[in-house]
Amino acid sequence: MSSSQRVFSGIQPTADSFHLGNYFGALKHWRTMQDAGSDCVYSVVDLHAITIESQQDPAQLHRRTLVSYAQLLSMGIDPQKSVLFVQSHVPEHAQLAWVLQCITGFGEAGRMTQFKDKSGKEGNDHTSVGLFTYPMLMAADILLYRTDGVPVGEDQRQHLELSRNLAQRFNSRFGETFTVPEPIIQKATAKFVDLQNPTGKMSKSAGTGGGMINVLDDPKQITKRIKSAVTDNEGVVRFDRETQPGVANLLSILGAATDRDPESLVADYEGKGYGALKTDVADAVVAEFTPIAERTRELLEDPAQLIRTMADGAHRARALAEPVLKDAYEAVGFVGIA
Ligand code: TYM
Repeated sequence: MSSSQRVFSGIQPTADSFHLGNYFGALKHWRTMQDAGSDCVYSVVDLHAITIESQQDPAQLHRRTLVSYAQLLSMGIDPQKSVLFVQSHVPEHAQLAWVLQCITGFGEAGRMTQFKDKSGKEGNDHTSVGLFTYPMLMAADILLYRTDGVPVGEDQRQHLELSRNLAQRFNSRFGETFTVPEPIIQKATAKFVDLQNPTGKMSKSAGTGGGMINVLDDPKQITKRIKSAVTDNEGVVRFDRETQPGVANLLSILGAATDRDPESLVADYEGKGYGALKTDVADAVVAEFTPIAERTRELLEDPAQLIRTMADGAHRARALAEPVLKDAYEAVGFVGIA
């Protein structure tokens, strides 16, 4: 991708802190792409957050939206360089989502694995229709900005494939309107696993709790969790996700934190045990997260200022989204009155 390309990505405000998987799997790439001069649009996707019943506590959602936005600013998403906004402030997302829902097959939506997993967990009576249409809202997020590339972790690949299909389907039925987006999934950071259960993804919903590191965690807690990460009985540091998933995960974390290829780190641990590796991982993660946590706390002391920054981001996002929605509405045949 060339530097002038449009980049879009989003993150849900569904926890009191982002976790290590979010940060190294996606957010750090957001910052890198911004700093490389891409035309970046980033969103805290609060409409997506309410698709799950347990996320529908109003005070909690309000707090988590502020803390999410503050963390993005603290980690170096610069609201002058990137458009940084909260999804519910830009009504065009929900408006375009409706149109995309109407060109998505019921069976096609039902095949989304995240929907199957989450609805399986929630049970039929607690699965909202919004959870079912979640991927079409995500496609709307992306297509509204005529996005070229979407930096995400591996777990979003299928949703990205649907977004591409919907862009192509819309264009062929109604005329060229949307850019077909490319997923940007970096192999080395595509999937961080749970520290206590290294065969499962590190995740706020599916994880073990004890196997997760949060950006806003206390440094002592971060160190403790990394030192007690599950490894194996081999005692030799190698990079093999199949046979040594715990050790490979630690190498991946260290690689992401120090901008090195995880496989190239193996040589540094020749003749050393897992203890040395864990110490280095803990130090690198603490060094990366501590300044972000401190800055986030400072920003949260002045919520009025945060909300002003959000308003500015919303204004800039709407200026981009409005003409694209208008094009899409006209293409469908809705009568314009302006
Ligand atoms: P969300 O909020 O679950 O996660 C935010 C980002 O973090 C990545 N991620 C991981 N990467 C590597 N290892 C992990 N263990 C890990 N866990 C999470 C996710 O892949 C994601 O990039 N549906 C999206 C939000 C969304 C979106 C969008 C993303 C809504 N609209 C448009 C891109 C474009 C989601 O739930 O991400």
